[in-house]
Amino acid sequence: MKIDVLLGLQWGDEGKGKIVDVLTSNYDIIARFQGGPNAGHTLEFDGIKHVLHTIPSGIFHQDVINIIGNGVVIDPVIFENEIKAINKLDIDMSELLISKKAHLILPTHKLLDAASEQTKGKNKIGSTLKGIAPTYMDKAGRNGLRIGDISSNNFKEKYDKLKQKHIQILNFYDFDYELTYLEEEWFTSLNTIKMFDHIESEHYLHKAIKKGKKILAEGAQGTLLDIDFGSYPFVTSSNTIAAGSCTGLGIAPNKIGEVFGIFKAYCTRVGSGPFPTELFDAVGEHIGKVGNEFGATTGRPRRCGWIDLPALKYAININGVTQLMMMKGDVLSGIDKIKVCTHYNFKGETIDYLPFEASVGLSPIFKELEGWQEDLMKLEGLEDAPQSFHDYIRYLEKELETPISIISVGPDRKQTFFR
Ligand code: IMP
Repeated sequence: MKIDVLLGLQWGDEGKGKIVDVLTSNYDIIARFQGGPNAGHTLEFDGIKHVLHTIPSGIFHQDVINIIGNGVVIDPVIFENEIKAINKLDIDMSELLISKKAHLILPTHKLLDAASEQTKGKNKIGSTLKGIAPTYMDKAGRNGLRIGDISSNNFKEKYDKLKQKHIQILNFYDFDYELTYLEEEWFTSLNTIKMFDHIESEHYLHKAIKKGKKILAEGAQGTLLDIDFGSYPFVTSSNTIAAGSCTGLGIAPNKIGEVFGIFKAYCTRVGSGPFPTELFDAVGEHIGKVGNEFGATTGRPRRCGWIDLPALKYAININGVTQLMMMKGDVLSGIDKIKVCTHYNFKGETIDYLPFEASVGLSPIFKELEGWQEDLMKLEGLEDAPQSFHDYIRYLEKELETPISIISVGPDRKQTFFR
């Protein structure tokens, strides 16, 4: 049995949480492979909205095993809050397993994130300030603390050593901080993490593959925020791409089956960095308002723009996407003409790829398509959708040379159609 991978093709917030939730009934195991609580996966069912940051989006289904993989970084305080929120729903979480190799976000990692952004001034990344970059820096620098360390006798000693290192850097930055309360709540919340099974998730998954279990690897953020292939340095600090599921779960590339790529019918981005199709007019504002485009983790308004085909094709190639899923088509209802970026003008030349220096001299070239007026959120089946919506889907499918297998027209599980 192969592992399917589900990930975002744009700058995150494509709606991965909703689709994992919709697909979960086809799987025995959902395994999150990278990122941390910078993610905010929103799911909506029975009229209630749920936001997950660390826990895989399969948690709301009984009889499914949810794994937080080694590639994830965990803030125990945020994790505890998620657990408390899910507990209110009376959901059995005994099948939530955590990799011993996942790294811990310390209180000082969050302070370092804030200090780093402060020193960058107008060049700041627009980080969610959840301590993601400093934690991955310690992982790569071989200084990090992992879930498996929590039960070791010298855990406090290791913690203090790393904290002292961080304090030196904070002092160097001349950064003001108050650590006592943050540390108290952090150590208290470790008790919640201890309640769950800590496993070597790669072995667990290898055995599950052998037994023929169906596994879905869940990504976070989006391809254009990937540390290697995103618009560096305006990226997150992990590999958000399909290859990240190999390193973030310990599975071999030849064990990957389907790669589900999720995109919105338009584009959004939070934080700084290049965004070639960004809209600065009333249409952009309209999309942001109708699409409720505010960060699920930080509440920041998302920048909005038209769909960007060269960027999407890049993401499809890097991930080896086998099936596409288009989200939020309903948000474009009522716009007369819909624009699609097909190429860029780069320093006077027409190009069809994202260049290394995407921040200067790059402007989008658009094709205009007919919009639709109907409220797609009320659709009961795709057959009732307006012709121009079908035309939009078919045009994208042809350009992207990949089938679009799911269309979502609203936040609820029921507003999802399979093609
Ligand atoms: P960080 O990973 O929190 O340091 O943020 C780095 C960049 O990635 C910033 O531009 C964030 O806004 C963006 N980012 C991080 N996580 C997400 C996400 O889940 N959705 C959208 N953008 C994100």
